[in-house]
Amino acid sequence: MTPRTIPVDVFDLIVFGATGDLAQRKLLPALFHRDVQGQIPPSARIIGSSRRAMTREAFRAFALASIETHVSEDERKPDTCKRFLDRLDYVAAEASQESGWNDLEKVLKPHADRIRVFYLAVGPDLFGPICERLGSHNLVTPNSRVVVEKPLGKNGASAKALNEQIGRIFPEPSIYRIDHYLGKETVQNLMALRFANALFEPVWNAAHIDNVQITVAETLGVEGRAGYYDTAGALRDMVQNHMLQLLCLVAMEPPTSIEADSVRDEKLKILQSLKPLTDGTLASQIVRGQYRAGASAGGAVPGYLEELGSDISKTETYVALKAEIGSWRWNGVPFYLRSGKRLPSRLSEIVVEFKPVPYSVFGTSAGNIASNTLVIRLQPDEGVKLMLMIKDPGPGGMRLRQVPLDMSFADAFGVRNPDAYERLLMDVVRGNQTLFMRRDEVTAAWNWIDPILDYWRESPELPKPYTAGTWGPTAAVALIERDGRTWHEGEVA
Ligand code: BG6
Repeated sequence: MTPRTIPVDVFDLIVFGATGDLAQRKLLPALFHRDVQGQIPPSARIIGSSRRAMTREAFRAFALASIETHVSEDERKPDTCKRFLDRLDYVAAEASQESGWNDLEKVLKPHADRIRVFYLAVGPDLFGPICERLGSHNLVTPNSRVVVEKPLGKNGASAKALNEQIGRIFPEPSIYRIDHYLGKETVQNLMALRFANALFEPVWNAAHIDNVQITVAETLGVEGRAGYYDTAGALRDMVQNHMLQLLCLVAMEPPTSIEADSVRDEKLKILQSLKPLTDGTLASQIVRGQYRAGASAGGAVPGYLEELGSDISKTETYVALKAEIGSWRWNGVPFYLRSGKRLPSRLSEIVVEFKPVPYSVFGTSAGNIASNTLVIRLQPDEGVKLMLMIKDPGPGGMRLRQVPLDMSFADAFGVRNPDAYERLLMDVVRGNQTLFMRRDEVTAAWNWIDPILDYWRESPELPKPYTAGTWGPTAAVALIERDGRTWHEGEVA
């Protein structure tokens, strides 16, 4: 099955931080894929920028190396590579100095009426200075958009300051706060599952759901990013954005439409209804961990402190927590969230566990009746699985067994799942903000996260150690078992 590709309007995309990790690993390969699919109009341009002096040819060579590394061989042909590289230009510009900005102005000027996308693939400290230069050089046209990466700030106060700096130059409808989890195929499928089927919505509430578990497990460590990571930690890096956004999509009320503000209004209500973690609940509802040396993805790996090159750090590489939503629909239903680096497998899933049947008519000889469970797999092997009870086939009396009703999207549709950035970049050009975070959502998420950060900062306790290649500290197991529940065991990839 070939996915439908609708070409976007012609655009100029300016990537600041064009020689950085994100551009190399994600943005350039994503744009290349969209070009191959015929979604990018012939005259659209991609203009790399960073402080590094570089010729256009050198930038093209950099982009080719990125494509050769991150795009499989059968997906890149010499003619499509050439077509893509021909779109690329490069302008060196210093965010904090005048140099380069007139050159950028010259490159952009001939196409002032085009859609103009400024992608800030740089640290948040450069968001303000870059926006200011864009403003003072009159580069922001009515058709301009700016894209910023998460985490937006280190806490509520710094996020507010950043939002204000960006907001001085760009109006809210032109600001695209990216959270690439929202661009994942299965995350959108969650909305389809909930709102395009009559089956689930009537039971999607505290009367029928016992608990929800959201796991984002990675086998990777902090790789070359220890410098950034040590100032962030798993709570800021994964929970404040990706995991809370997933929680919102599971928990939100049906929006009035799929329009950006309808969806974002509903997500906002969930963020605002999260019960605050207070001094009384923080110690028992949240666990932070840090990996020690161990084995992961088949080999021996160093601990976090060794990767960081330090003897001590309070930065968490693992978080497990219990969140609760104060609302009629969700009161009393715990949402257990966990995310960590150097876990045994790469696995992201949302597990909705329904309440058990009220009474078994089968007697004890039939075996236990397990609760129905809906598993939405984000990665790897995107799909949806519903665990049901059936009768064990054959004679011999009534014995019950749990089986999966399992749909793997790759098997069902046989298509390459586009990377989240492919979808999100094209959404920016199309002007569709549905899958981007609005300012008030970011604020509400920080409002819930800030007390946890304050508590940890004041606490003399260090993160609980866990061995790389295990499912995190034992305290995370205790967190859920205290409630008489267990973490869902995903399939190990
Ligand atoms: C990023 C985090 O936002 O998401 C990384 O900064 C993390 O630390 C990554 O590894 C995980 O994304 P994915 O798409 O590989 O699950």
